Amino acid sequence: MGTVLDSRLMEAVVRTARRLAAVALEFPVKKKSFRNLAARAFRRAAWVVDTPEPPKCVVDEFVTQLCYVNAGIMERGNVQSFEYAIAHLSSSAPILEIGSLCGLSTNTMAHFKRKHRKTNPLITCDKWKFQQATEGVVPTHVGDSPVLMEDFQRFARDTYIRNIQMFSATDLPYTFEMFSDEFFAAWRSGIQAQDVLGRELQLGGPFSFCFVDGNHTYDFAKRDFLNCDAFLEVGGFILFDDSTLLKDGVYKVMPGVMATGRYELIAMNPNHLFQKKA
Ligand SMILES: C[S@@+](CC[C@H](N)C(=O)[O-])C[C@H]1O[C@@H](n2cnc3c(N)ncnc32)[C@H](O)[C@@H]1O
Repeated sequence: MGTVLDSRLMEAVVRTARRLAAVALEFPVKKKSFRNLAARAFRRAAWVVDTPEPPKCVVDEFVTQLCYVNAGIMERGNVQSFEYAIAHLSSSAPILEIGSLCGLSTNTMAHFKRKHRKTNPLITCDKWKFQQATEGVVPTHVGDSPVLMEDFQRFARDTYIRNIQMFSATDLPYTFEMFSDEFFAAWRSGIQAQDVLGRELQLGGPFSFCFVDGNHTYDFAKRDFLNCDAFLEVGGFILFDDSTLLKDGVYKVMPGVMATGRYELIAMNPNHLFQKKA
């Protein structure tokens, strides 16, 4: 293909295919399967012409060691995006993480704050309720084991606390045991709230960087975006976990972010990192 088309034409083809994929997803047709099929075909076309590079992983010694002992689900490409966003923060407004699990990404972000001498408070929320009511019947046990789901969730919460106390002791994040919708309602109302370590914090104000890694279904991810957008300062960053995976709904939120015209795509590694421009 490269011998036939010059590179500018190739770029145009890729851009067009990506745009068609995004448009296909937005298209209000009754047959959802047709719309998804069309979007997949266009994405595939873009991929064939311009095969994405594997994620760039610049994982330093601390993060390498942290990943051995701090349980979590952290896309390694996010590490580079965390560092980029934190190194380029445009103010001292807080950083927000939605979905902390056992603190792997939390501790990684705290590490980059330390490294780049940033004093922005790191605020996180998670309720450690892995099967939210919206997803139907909550199982009582973990798989077919005798381990109670309730104990499993408490274990994850305790592990989170132990991990931040171990790895971010000099700059502890404020963590609120809330679903993101509850967190944003509290943030919007500007109340004083208590974090999982019993510390009081006055909520409210702008964010400089939001990391969206909570409920990965379309409706939740879209609401998380709208809520982040309401508080993200101009110049601020937003990173969406699992935003190129087709199994969840986060990728479907991406065309809407682009369509606002207010966000510049900084990286897809493979997850989307945007900077708010207006
Ligand atoms: C993929 S994990 C996060 C992984 C984590 N960032 C890490 O580095 O390992 C998703 C987390 O989001 C939490 N979560 C699910 N729905 C949520 C919601 N609506 N609001 C906030 N957190 C949520 C889950 O409890 C879970 O801990």
